[in-house]
Amino acid sequence: MIRVHVRRKSFGATDVLKDVNFALQDGECLAILGKSGVGKSTLLRLVADIDQDFTGQIERPEKMAFVFQEPTLLPWRSAIDNLLIVHPDLDQRGAKVMLARVGLADKADHFPGQLSLGQQRRLALARAFAGRPELLILDEPFVSLDEKTAKEMLALTRGLLKEISPTTLFVTHEREEAELLADRTMELVGSPATVAPNVVRPNFIREEAQ
Ligand SMILES: Nc1ncnc2c1ncn2[C@@H]1O[C@H](COP(=O)(O)OP(=O)(O)OP(=O)(O)O)[C@@H](O)[C@H]1O
Ligand SMILES: [Mg+2]
Repeated sequence: MIRVHVRRKSFGATDVLKDVNFALQDGECLAILGKSGVGKSTLLRLVADIDQDFTGQIERPEKMAFVFQEPTLLPWRSAIDNLLIVHPDLDQRGAKVMLARVGLADKADHFPGQLSLGQQRRLALARAFAGRPELLILDEPFVSLDEKTAKEMLALTRGLLKEISPTTLFVTHEREEAELLADRTMELVGSPATVAPNVVRPNFIREEAQ
């Protein structure tokens, strides 16, 4: 399971997050909603241990995968190599199965620059799931896609979540997406941002009395 206690996160003199507390059971998916600039990506970076500069405490499993807001693929490596480099245990066959799973069976030898944004996002998703992570962090994985592609990717992600069942944090602007994919939804509001009251119910760690 993961337990998140962010008492305070600031950039310079500006507090961005304050008392963001929640816990997730193994295999649970939590959607995080909130306006642009509220601090969603900042929170994900803390949870992923990419940023350690905050006050609080986070317990997380070690096996983690992060799908960033912008696909972070290696442009000079083919689609299949983008999987194999991150997952040395994976063989060609396993990588091809994963590519096929996200609809990229015929793109194994294409470079990221030869893929559409939707295809790049599928590849980033395949790369994340290929390691069978215990904790999966998705930062707006379907943003800037047309509606049909976004829906397809959502259905794909749902299937993979069901099969691999990582504990998942899923940031989105779309409440509908949140409700389709996640078990629970949490909204960040205010400045500094905190969890909107009464949105996350089970497992919510109460704010400690000041
Ligand atoms: N490295 C940084 N240095 C200074 N300020 C930062 C830094 N990273 C983020 N911020 C600020 O922290 C706030 C939260 O940013 P963050 O990227 O977490 O927002 P977000 O909720 O993910 O927004 P969006 O939905 O647009 O992706 C913003 O005001 C942003 O300007
Ligand atoms: Mg963001």
